[in-house]
Amino acid sequence: MKFLPRKSVNSTFNMVSSLLLMALFLALAYNNYQREQDLILKGAVDTARTISRQIIETRDYLSRHVTSEPETNSALIPQVAASKIAEQITRGSRYYVRQVSLRYRNPNNRPDEYESALLETFVSSDARETWRVTTQSGKKSLRFLSPMIADESCLACHGSFETAPRYIQTRFPKGHFSYGYQVGEVIGAVSVAVPMESLYHQVFHNLRRDLLYDGVILTIFILFTARILNKTIIQPVKNVAGSISEVARTGNFSERIAHDRRDEIGDLINSFNTLMAELDHKTRQRIESEERYRNFIEIAKSPIVTFMADGKIIITNQKAEKLFGLGKEELLGQCIFDFILECDQLQGAIKDYFTSTRSELIGTTTRQKVRNVCGRITEVDMVISVSQSEQSQMFSAILRTSEV
Ligand code: HEC
Repeated sequence: MKFLPRKSVNSTFNMVSSLLLMALFLALAYNNYQREQDLILKGAVDTARTISRQIIETRDYLSRHVTSEPETNSALIPQVAASKIAEQITRGSRYYVRQVSLRYRNPNNRPDEYESALLETFVSSDARETWRVTTQSGKKSLRFLSPMIADESCLACHGSFETAPRYIQTRFPKGHFSYGYQVGEVIGAVSVAVPMESLYHQVFHNLRRDLLYDGVILTIFILFTARILNKTIIQPVKNVAGSISEVARTGNFSERIAHDRRDEIGDLINSFNTLMAELDHKTRQRIESEERYRNFIEIAKSPIVTFMADGKIIITNQKAEKLFGLGKEELLGQCIFDFILECDQLQGAIKDYFTSTRSELIGTTTRQKVRNVCGRITEVDMVISVSQSEQSQMFSAILRTSEV
């Protein structure tokens, strides 16, 4: 397939259709890419929400029902147990779960900058969750936070120092900022993070695969349409063009193109064939009428020559050949003015004819002197008539000699 060497219909069509299809495929692939990214993000948010709900529910359950055991088994402290369970649930996944608080007891639970900012907003709003895709050192990750609200059971350990169990009092002395919460207050939040790179990587992989498939489909489509286009339009049009230039070159109007099509190309070929038939008919008519004319002047008693505006002789009769002293073959193509003495008058008359489509000389008999090839001068009475050939004017001169 040729793409750019010459601007053919085929290459233009290929180029335009490939560009349009490429744009379409790119747009579709991009749209798909965006949609998949959205879906993946939505999936990640849903998972993060489920994880955080599990933690919150576990914590609430433990806080309400496991009240005395934590004293002897610190693994049953609601925060500790919920964290362990979360850790086990998310093991092997990319989800990273923490429980954070601005007034933390365990320094490991200290919120990072992002978490601190969101915790502040939870304190002043009723939001039940919040999430955002953040970019840190070029890496994207989903950060999901869900607040943990103090209920009555939490206050057993997070209320006042005085009412807290002994083991809590010993670990966190009076005045520690982890005491003093009220029911309904935000104690902290479950913070879930998941790196999006690997998830987006899959989407990108899908995009690449889509583009590859699209590319293959596009190539097949272009090859296929180029073939169809070539077979149904280009080749037939080329045939018609070839026939036209052949006719122009040979002048042979008998050329016809066979076809069995009933579409626009069929109409074009029909028109071509009709045109050729018409031209063929006209040419035959012209040849016949020329033939008749030739025969007619051949039997005329006077010398007759037919010439073009530049004087070039195109038809002669025997009498004229005798008058000029040349055979037919030699005389045809000669210039009539070379044989007429004082030919200026004749040349002027022809010129006049072209400037004003009439001339004194045409149609009237004038006396002229004709000099034949041997230099012999003959006096003749000349009458010029004009006739219209297909392309130009032709002039016929009857040169009546007194000898005849
Ligand atoms: C039995 C006592 C007890 C109860 C009841 C309790 N907590 Fe705690 N909580 C603790 C202890 C102890 C820690 C610190 C655990 C550690 O060392 O990691 C803690 C830690 C936390 C943390 C992590 C931040 C930090 O301070 O390190 C949050 C958030 C929290 N608790 C919220 C709650 C909520 C909400 C409730 C009620 C649903 C609750 N706790 C019930 C004892 C308790």
